[in-house]
Amino acid sequence: MRAVDIIQKKRDNEKLSDKEIEFLLNGYLAGDIPDYQMSAFLMAVYFNDMSQEELLKFTMLMRDSGDVIKFDEINRFLVDKHSTGGVGDKVTVVLSPILSALGMGNVKLSGKGLGHTGGTIDKFESIKGFRFSTTKDELVKIANKTGVGLMGYSDKIVPLDKKLYSLRDVTATVPSIPLIASSIMSKKLAIHSDVIILDVKVGDGAFMKNLELAEKLSERMIEIGKGADRKVRVVLSNMDEPLGHAVGNANEIIEAIEFLKGNYADDLKEVVYTIASLALKEKGEVKELEEAKEKIDKVINDGSALKILSEFIEESGGNKELVNNYDLLPKAKSVMEIFSEKEGYIKKIKTEEIGKAAMIIGAGRAKKEDEIDHAVGINIFKKVGEKIAKNEKIAEIYYNNGENVEESKNMILEAFVLTEEKVEKQKAVLKII
Ligand code: URA
Repeated sequence: MRAVDIIQKKRDNEKLSDKEIEFLLNGYLAGDIPDYQMSAFLMAVYFNDMSQEELLKFTMLMRDSGDVIKFDEINRFLVDKHSTGGVGDKVTVVLSPILSALGMGNVKLSGKGLGHTGGTIDKFESIKGFRFSTTKDELVKIANKTGVGLMGYSDKIVPLDKKLYSLRDVTATVPSIPLIASSIMSKKLAIHSDVIILDVKVGDGAFMKNLELAEKLSERMIEIGKGADRKVRVVLSNMDEPLGHAVGNANEIIEAIEFLKGNYADDLKEVVYTIASLALKEKGEVKELEEAKEKIDKVINDGSALKILSEFIEESGGNKELVNNYDLLPKAKSVMEIFSEKEGYIKKIKTEEIGKAAMIIGAGRAKKEDEIDHAVGINIFKKVGEKIAKNEKIAEIYYNNGENVEESKNMILEAFVLTEEKVEKQKAVLKII
């Protein structure tokens, strides 16, 4: 078998056999097939797609390129909630303790932020002393105590995705539905869970810019799940404005804690409640999603979800008192208030722009190697549909280094798109599949 013949077949839109896909991926992982041939193959997939059989084989080989972890030692219904990446997306921080308080476990691999999107690892690492589990044993120990088990990606899990993603990044082949679907699902299949709930973000601040593309991606991931005998549910959620109010790291932890004290932004509540309701339904505790609301309200109102978050923080090396004392989180030296230069209804908040405005003051990474400043970030006070007056405060920037703060301010002002006509508030959950 030769790589060039496999590339030619994909180029000519012919179906590949299992053996051919195996030859290509295993050869690439072993270093026998060079980057230039794999690049050509990825570009052929970008244009010609993969059949569902090809995609399943491709994904399974990616999964099996590293360790596959089972959690027989954890005696809970395990949920793996995964977001495709957004701005202000602190759902995991809020949802994990809620699922645990509801008797389930949220056990998953978490990622770091890149570009305009944030990552759960960075948000938790705002907490002094906090360490993510790096081994299965560590994760099981913490998950058995708290119901929450989060582990950072390591070279041992789906190493092929790491290699392929780096190549896609520099060959303009990231935005390909089969390649995104296999990349995400290979990592989900490498970790055992009873249900995988994918939060597929849709809109300006997301990979999938419109609902149609997001639905296509979701269907392909559900199909991969079926082929691998795993249950997958999808929530399509809006990324045409940041989720909640905080965009950054330490400030997102504060917003997450406030949520668990009953102080929440409506859009964040809609996403968190929908995912928690789906989890309860998949577990068999409720028949209809609406029946779950009361149960979720209860674990927030009685403080049990907040208590679990503080225990999780303590078990992970942080100071659990911080849920009642935000001075224990890093604090930026300066604040810049931003006032609207116009009046009108907010029609849209260009979310990618807000993510980039946070990134350039140090809250995110332009390149994988960049260091994050956990203290800095942006808080948005106004959401789509609200009316704002000229000179009304719309946001605040928390910063340490003044270098890019003027540019960040201009990006935020530019991101708020106003209109004279009344605008409907946006729905946070667009569809459940
Ligand atoms: N997230 C992933 O893990 N992989 C992709 O290709 C895109 C988003």
